[in-house]
Amino acid sequence: MKKDILTILDLTEDEIIALIERGMEIKRQGRTDPGRFAGYTLGLLFNKASTRTRISFEVAMIRLGGSTIYMNVSETQLSRNETIEDTARVLSRYLDALAVRTYSHHELEQMAKHATIPVINALTDSFHPCQVLSDIMTVVEKKGDIKNLNIAWVGDGNNVANSWINAAKVLGFHLTLACPEGFEPDKSVMDSAPSNITLLNDPIQAVQGADVINTDVWVSMGDGEDKRDRLSRFRKFQVNKELIEKAKDDVIIMHCLPAHRGEEITDDVIDGPNSVVFDQAENKLYIHQAILEKILI
Ligand code: CP
Ligand code: NVA
Repeated sequence: MKKDILTILDLTEDEIIALIERGMEIKRQGRTDPGRFAGYTLGLLFNKASTRTRISFEVAMIRLGGSTIYMNVSETQLSRNETIEDTARVLSRYLDALAVRTYSHHELEQMAKHATIPVINALTDSFHPCQVLSDIMTVVEKKGDIKNLNIAWVGDGNNVANSWINAAKVLGFHLTLACPEGFEPDKSVMDSAPSNITLLNDPIQAVQGADVINTDVWVSMGDGEDKRDRLSRFRKFQVNKELIEKAKDDVIIMHCLPAHRGEEITDDVIDGPNSVVFDQAENKLYIHQAILEKILI
């Protein structure tokens, strides 16, 4: 049966651990892969901008010996009202897997439902599972494990936050989120949250004893302009020197990037000794390679 990865909940704890271990192995080994996926093609159907996700998936596929085809949605017949169903059925006749970046998570689910090839979520307004898998790899790389750690999320309760919540549901680590009122994670994601997940509106409380502090932009690609008008509500959620001093001394600072320096994170923190943001970005390559090996069987 084809293996879709639409959210982290599509993976078991064992599958996540195996992906992280494989990602770390690929990183250690360097460019030694024999390219066993020669002749395979990954499609990238993107409806939003991307630097890291697109390029790391493309390089991962090249390192596996395969090829990629990047499709900007605006240049496909989807932009002229061809249905998702027909598009999924046609692309499945050419490709071996499809990574989709779009707005509506429901549209991604529709694509996966009608595709006969594996479909990967490369970001929707609701979730960014592959990002959080590479972030977890980064935590394990820096801290040895994630299970007994305190992970803090400070800022918008967005797609990346939702995926961290899902990861905490599966892996059981302590996750404390601090979001401004009205910008909490999706209710449907929080509703079934177990007791290892705490939602607050106070960033200082959230980072007390934190091993990891995570943040992200205050206005995501799928957000309307109205959110920008309310940026003042986020000011006290900035990850700055004063805030990180409230966490453990060896706290690591994470951001999936792109960052809006001076908004959600200050230059001295993102470029400081506790920051691991560029390792996170690099690890997307190895996790994407591990994901492709898993689904292209
Ligand atoms: N972190 C991430 O998904 O970056 P891109 O938007 O550049 O792909
Ligand atoms: N939350 C951000 C993540 C970008 C990688 C967005 O959706 O724009």
